[in-house]
Amino acid sequence: MTWLITGGAGYIGAHVARAMTDAGERVLVLDDLSAGVPARLPARVPLVQGSSLDAALLKRVCAEHGVTGVVHLAARKQVAESVAQPTRYYRENVGGLVTLLEAVAEAGVRRLVFSSSAAVYGNPDVDLITEETACAPVNPYGETKLAGEWLVRAAGRAHGISTVCLRYFNVAGAAAPELADTGVFNIVPMVFDRLTRGEAPRIFGDDYPTPDGTCVRDYIHVADLAEAHLAAARRLSGNAEHAAVGDLTVNIGRGEGVSVRELITVIAEVSGDRRTPVVEARRPGDAPRAVASAARAAEVLGWTARRGVREMVESAWQGWLLHHGG
Ligand SMILES: NC(=O)c1ccc[n+]([C@@H]2O[C@H](COP(=O)([O-])OP(=O)(O)OC[C@H]3O[C@@H](n4cnc5c(N)ncnc54)[C@H](O)[C@@H]3O)[C@@H](O)[C@H]2O)c1
Repeated sequence: MTWLITGGAGYIGAHVARAMTDAGERVLVLDDLSAGVPARLPARVPLVQGSSLDAALLKRVCAEHGVTGVVHLAARKQVAESVAQPTRYYRENVGGLVTLLEAVAEAGVRRLVFSSSAAVYGNPDVDLITEETACAPVNPYGETKLAGEWLVRAAGRAHGISTVCLRYFNVAGAAAPELADTGVFNIVPMVFDRLTRGEAPRIFGDDYPTPDGTCVRDYIHVADLAEAHLAAARRLSGNAEHAAVGDLTVNIGRGEGVSVRELITVIAEVSGDRRTPVVEARRPGDAPRAVASAARAAEVLGWTARRGVREMVESAWQGWLLHHGG
């Protein structure tokens, strides 16, 4: 097998590239470097700089490298930006996938893992979100992920491509400081950013119907997430009769809820900065609770998260200190 990892120089993609390489898989990366960092990649992983919207390049890469499987992570991922620039998100996330699937089908590639998101669910009012929970995304980013899943399944059926859509919950942490997320779009780096500026962390709403009144989320260590990709790739390549896999759609979370206040307490312990958080108004669109059922991942991928929130925060903090100088 040779796996093409699109978006492999990104935060999650670089972890996937490392986990798959360490496990003995042959991988190469395609990344337009709009957000990617080449230095994150292991030296032995070839990097092709280019876009998933470039059909000719995809065709050439598949042929020249004998690609037999694809892990597709390349996408724009900022919710607020997707609200402001929906056409760009549909063009890059859905259009990029259309181009990729056409190239993959033409090249005879038969295995594909797609980076989806818990954003496909929107804000369901359930204790645990299963893969059967109705999808109702509440922003264009989530819509492009749901449309992407539909496209992946339809193209898979039409062209005999076995597919796995992984719906990631809240990703945090780093396998090594140099692989840490450098963006400030998720709660962990947002709190670090406040502390580094000498400001108190912010809590948006403490009057939700949750045990401590703050929103509850399911945090997943990026190293566990990378191992889930490896498990998905192995699930796809392990089958001699690969059509038998068909399509799988799997939540990737820990199945445990952690409140914003609990998370900020762990961050205070790890950073040593125990500033009292300030409570501000609720943000529109925030669900009180979003926690995965992790049962299907264990059943069909044989994968379960191993790392806890403390490990996520400690590793993310080391990465933050490296990139932001403490
Ligand atoms: N980080 C999260 O919490 C999270 C949660 C759920 C889903 N996801 C999904 O996981 C994937 C990776 O996210 P990430 O956090 O690593 O983001 P990231 O921005 O660090 O990585 C995305 C990578 O894709 C590259 N890229 C973007 N558009 C491209 C294109 N058209 N062609 C080639 N390369 C392109 C970027 O340069 C970057 O290296 C995305 O699909 C994202 O939607 C992320």
